[in-house]
Amino acid sequence: MTTLRLPQCQSRIEMTEGQTVLEAALEANVPFPHSCRSGRCGACKSQLLSGEVMMLQHSPFALDASERAGGNILACRAVPLTDVAVAWANDQVVAGAQARIVGLYAMAPDIYRLVLRPDEPIAFSPGQFFQIELVPGITRSYSVASGQGASHLEFHIRAIAGGRASGLLAKELELSDVVRISGPFGHAVGADKATGPILAIA
Ligand code: FES
Repeated sequence: MTTLRLPQCQSRIEMTEGQTVLEAALEANVPFPHSCRSGRCGACKSQLLSGEVMMLQHSPFALDASERAGGNILACRAVPLTDVAVAWANDQVVAGAQARIVGLYAMAPDIYRLVLRPDEPIAFSPGQFFQIELVPGITRSYSVASGQGASHLEFHIRAIAGGRASGLLAKELELSDVVRISGPFGHAVGADKATGPILAIA
């Protein structure tokens, strides 16, 4: 049995045979940055701080040979061969930060507006999403709707009939309640250097 150490969240996880770093982290409720889980997007790119891993098949777009030679891995494709320590590459990702509910109401019969004020401002780009633990054990991913640079995080959430999270938003959560958020995640953001026209497809 090998051990996975994640210094960014002071976690030490016992791994089972054949598990990837990402699988073990998520199973231990660590909000490890990720998206596709299949070696195609690069969202889980990480630094291997110590130990050895076997890399499963992945796209060179997600991790190229020079990045691998520099000690980077994809957590979703890395199976530890020894005890390992891993740090995710995106330092902007906040794990399990506290945020207070400062706005919560129905904008439409099936859309809730949820506004959170984190203890510390969190940088994000439009198009990214956060994981919100509404109550212990109930975590959902929601795209952020506030403008870049906003100190509050705003989410427009479609209610699902009979959904547990929708029920919490409708009846149980209140202003001043504290939730836990992790993120931002996702790479579907505008390119910094793009100057041409934008074609948006939904
Ligand atoms: S989550 Fe997409 S490459 Fe790992």
